Amino acid sequence: MLGAKRILLIIGGGIAAYKSLDLIRRLRERGADVTPVLTRAAEQFVTPLSVAALSGSKVYRDLFDLTDEAEMGHIQLSRSADLILVAPATADLMAKMAQGIANDLASTLLLATDTPVMIAPAMNVRMWQHPATQRNIATLQGDSVTLIGPNDGDMACGEFGPGRMSEPLEIVAAIETQLAAGPLEGKRVLVTSGPTHEPIDPVRYIANRSSGAQGTAIATALAALGAEVIFVTGPADVPPPAGATVVPVQTAAQMLQAVQDALPADVAIFAAAVADWRVSSASDKKLKKTKDGLPELTFAENPDILAHVAQLKKGRPQLVVGFAAETNDVRDNAIAKRKRKGCDWIIANDVSPETGIMGGSENAILLISDDGVETWLRMSKTQVAQRLVARIAKTLA
Ligand code: CTP
Repeated sequence: MLGAKRILLIIGGGIAAYKSLDLIRRLRERGADVTPVLTRAAEQFVTPLSVAALSGSKVYRDLFDLTDEAEMGHIQLSRSADLILVAPATADLMAKMAQGIANDLASTLLLATDTPVMIAPAMNVRMWQHPATQRNIATLQGDSVTLIGPNDGDMACGEFGPGRMSEPLEIVAAIETQLAAGPLEGKRVLVTSGPTHEPIDPVRYIANRSSGAQGTAIATALAALGAEVIFVTGPADVPPPAGATVVPVQTAAQMLQAVQDALPADVAIFAAAVADWRVSSASDKKLKKTKDGLPELTFAENPDILAHVAQLKKGRPQLVVGFAAETNDVRDNAIAKRKRKGCDWIIANDVSPETGIMGGSENAILLISDDGVETWLRMSKTQVAQRLVARIAKTLA
């Protein structure tokens, strides 16, 4: 059931728009409140009158209407729903979404929103298979847009293949799954991610090759299962996850402070590649070349954030997960590291340059826990994150 859920339905201009009328009925039967938006092209396929009659709502149209803006501005409209559904999502609308183009009401709402977005694509098979569309899909998925379908089948244009919009009941089922309370609802999870930058002087720093991709994927997967996620991140290459509270830091000392401020938490996952050392007295002026020779840097050890939290006497999270980035003897080093740090699980990976794991999109890990050592074959960092988060949900259940 979708009782009291507010769905902003954007109907794009494609022949499949006729199915959106049935979709509105199905959504309302389940108690959802549907606010429709019609693109200009959609009005060639369905009339505003039929959409208004079926939805029982005002229909927002791709016209700059001062009355609409006065009643509810487009920013408010984009955020007032629990979910934005684009059905049918045409190739054109998807391209605009992927590029961040906002040149009509529908695309502006999609750019301005902070609510989850699901799209049900519908287009000719060749348009679907075109590399441009496939690139846009990858971009949209990276932006946490959820795809429903498309299905294979006969198309209105006489061709056969993928591109048919999913049936209304399939779309309703996908929405019910998306809006169902996740297994991590009510759980607060802290994630550290990315590298740290330890200053040498105002323009130079010590860093490492961590991109933040694995930590970000974990935070995204946690949020998707309903967890409240506090994401403490060093300067990463990848954009921060949607649906998490992001706390940006630069140094290990700042990361420790941010972690302490974020506690208590039910689970803490330490995916950050924290610098082990900092320059003990970083210069507040840029170091200059001098005739007296090379500068000498002295180092101090950084606080071990994972060990600190794992060994808390009071307020220790129920589950503490660390990472072990190793270049040799991965298994033995990681088993020893788990003991030394006092965490519950260690995710160990081989970050030797030839593996391409650090900074890459894939990971191959060992999961070390009280139950022993489990090997996960190489897969995408997103898949590692989803599998790990499913395991966490099971452990907390
Ligand atoms: N970690 C941390 N604070 C640090 C160093 C590491 O929280 N100052 C965490 C990392 O986030 C990771 C785990 O500890 O979860 C292991 O990090 P790693 O760099 O592999 O281990 P080290 O503690 O540096 O141990 P070693 O130098 O022996 O590899």
